[in-house]
Amino acid sequence: MENGAPGVKVGRVMTQVFVLVFLLQSVHSRTSRNNLNIAKPGQKFASPPVTLKKVGHDKVVVDNGIIQVTFSSPQGLITGIKYNEFDNVLNDKIKNRGYWDVVWYESGETPVTDFLVGKEFDVVNQTSEHVEISFSRKWDISQRGSIAPLNVDKRYIIRRGVSGVYMYAVLERLKGWPDVDMDQTRIVFKLNTTKFDFMAISDSRQKIMPSATDRDITNGRASPLAYKEAVRLINPENHILKGQVDDKYMYSMEDKDNKVHGWISSDQSVGFWMITPSDEFRACGPVKQDLSSHVGPTTLSMFTSLHYAGKEMNTTYISKEPWKKVFGPVFVYLNSASSRNLLWTDAKRQMVVEVQSWPYDFVKSADYPLHHQRGTVKGQFFVLDRYNSKSRLFGKFAFVGLAKPGEAGSWQTENKGYQFWTKADKMGMFTIANVRPGTYSLYAWVSGFIGDYIYERDITITPGREINVGSITYEPPRSGSTLWEIGEPDRTAAEFFIPDQDPTLLTKLSLNDSNLPQDRFRQYGLWDRYSVLYPRKDLVYIVGVSDYKKEWFYAHLTRNAGKGIYQATTWQIVFNLKTVTQTGNYTLRIALAAATTANLFVRINEANSKPIFMTGLIGQDNAIARHGIHGVMYDYLRLESPPRV
Ligand SMILES: *[C@@H]1O[C@H](CO)[C@@H](O)[C@H](O)[C@H]1NC(C)=O
Ligand SMILES: *[C@@H]1O[C@H](CO)[C@@H](O)[C@H](O)[C@H]1NC(C)=O
Ligand SMILES: *[C@@H]1O[C@H](CO)[C@@H](O)[C@H](O)[C@H]1NC(C)=O
Ligand SMILES: *[C@@H]1O[C@H](CO)[C@@H](O)[C@H](O)[C@H]1NC(C)=O
Ligand SMILES: *[C@@H]1O[C@H](CO)[C@@H](O)[C@H](O)[C@H]1NC(C)=O
Repeated sequence: MENGAPGVKVGRVMTQVFVLVFLLQSVHSRTSRNNLNIAKPGQKFASPPVTLKKVGHDKVVVDNGIIQVTFSSPQGLITGIKYNEFDNVLNDKIKNRGYWDVVWYESGETPVTDFLVGKEFDVVNQTSEHVEISFSRKWDISQRGSIAPLNVDKRYIIRRGVSGVYMYAVLERLKGWPDVDMDQTRIVFKLNTTKFDFMAISDSRQKIMPSATDRDITNGRASPLAYKEAVRLINPENHILKGQVDDKYMYSMEDKDNKVHGWISSDQSVGFWMITPSDEFRACGPVKQDLSSHVGPTTLSMFTSLHYAGKEMNTTYISKEPWKKVFGPVFVYLNSASSRNLLWTDAKRQMVVEVQSWPYDFVKSADYPLHHQRGTVKGQFFVLDRYNSKSRLFGKFAFVGLAKPGEAGSWQTENKGYQFWTKADKMGMFTIANVRPGTYSLYAWVSGFIGDYIYERDITITPGREINVGSITYEPPRSGSTLWEIGEPDRTAAEFFIPDQDPTLLTKLSLNDSNLPQDRFRQYGLWDRYSVLYPRKDLVYIVGVSDYKKEWFYAHLTRNAGKGIYQATTWQIVFNLKTVTQTGNYTLRIALAAATTANLFVRINEANSKPIFMTGLIGQDNAIARHGIHGVMYDYLRLESPPRV
């Protein structure tokens, strides 16, 4: 709450609330050779040259002596990866085991999956050092309704001495093509089900996984939970997993952290890793969350999806707007070592090699600008928060990024262009390097300050050029000093009270069974804990007395009253103002870290009074059901009310 009259002590409320009205039905949804893996520029390998062979009329095999990759041709699906003792690390009992897909539909139709099957095979470049191949198809109006209206060029690169395969795709729409929604773009790998048993997605989240059979609710091995993605393992093959919940969304990550994840075959001492060296081609900024690896064994590279964002993302591609985008390259890396720990450590090392090699100099596509064809933006980010400090503060560790021109904060739902983000240093200094030529807005936000920054002008990047925007300053909205606040403006609900899960629904997410505090929110069913803790009366928070870490439930949920009935809940914030000014306004500011089909009402003093504010029905990010601690951020920065005493 804030008073408009300068110098008058008035208040501000800053809270971050997770709001959700639960609609569960809406939840859809080492051999010695390996020591050669580190590809240093200019280094000559003692390894064999890369070879390309056509086998029969429908297969292409590329081999570098370390891995041998088989592609269906001209479809361009990866059907085999031979490595070490494995004839095929992929699941050879099923047809689609290494593929791209896009979920698409024309308005009013049902979403369908297009596997982006190629019609033409080409060798883009073939030398002893590397092979780049292409599987492509062109769209025309006669194909309307049967496949997504896209020109597709799927590319694969295998390099000498490098234990893996690089993959990217150029997707294109020409002007005049029918409007289409494309809700999801990804790469999927399904691995050998009997061999890959252990999954690692971060230093702390690594574990022995159940099998796909263990998740089957028809064979007595698992029991269903509130939606199909989650099951309770009642009789898994591996008894240590008994009683736990499995749900792929427990293994989601923020895109900025999703650089390497994958599976280990403990038995063969082999690792299969998805390495993503850049976040530029993913959607919705650095804190968009998405799936990584999960039971199957499955490893994904998610480029775009509605997960944790919903249709707030505008995934309609319209006829008048031609569109083209390069997804990738991402790198599938295989390694072998004597222990799981060494496999993971080596995968991370390789990830660093890939990140440092970005943009790759060996990619042969006019649509993939090389280092010298990209530009740089630099500057220093400050925050001026007048009621906090008279002078500007450094925008310490601020996120600063370039995305399609838009409004402040629009990057979080933008999914058609490229985004380039960096984290400023402790003095707010930032450099965004390797930006593709184009026109962008410059966006920023910083933990500790409410709201979103946008630079006053668009920024046009040209090849090789460095733009220095100098010092730029964000002034968070304010009209007075803070009377009280609950939580921190950091776009997440992580600082609030996260309950213990129902002990019968515990999932051990880390190898040593001690779930780390930062992963508490990833448990199944936390939403039901509100009704357990507050069976009749709702939460009351007393400013100056209550501690939001212990007393502000991380999500504002409905109460499960049984029999499928969910009741709205009313939380009270009780506060006391020593003096009340009659001449100014008090401003309540609310930031919601996520929302799913919810309507938040704000009332003052009288429980049944007319609301001073309503959000209206908002939110489709489904973050709570997907064990997220945030989805799309909603800012309500000016809820002003004349004082009524
Ligand atoms: C208080 O808010 C009202 C309505 O938004 C506005 O018209 C008025 O100017 C504000 N008063 C002050 C002192 O800022
Ligand atoms: C897994 O690998 C083993 C040994 O290479 C092979 O016998 C089996 O058929 C493979 N199974 C699947 C499902 O890919
Ligand atoms: C093929 O790749 C080699 C080595 O990277 C490069 O020198 C050559 O110019 C490329 N050829 C074509 C046709 O792009
Ligand atoms: C468990 O593993 C985590 C992450 O690997 C580590 O931080 C923690 O100290 C470990 N706990 C024990 C009891 O070993
Ligand atoms: C989605 O974006 C297209 C243009 O890219 C625009 O025409 C359309 O109105 C947008 N839809 C919504 C619901 O904002």
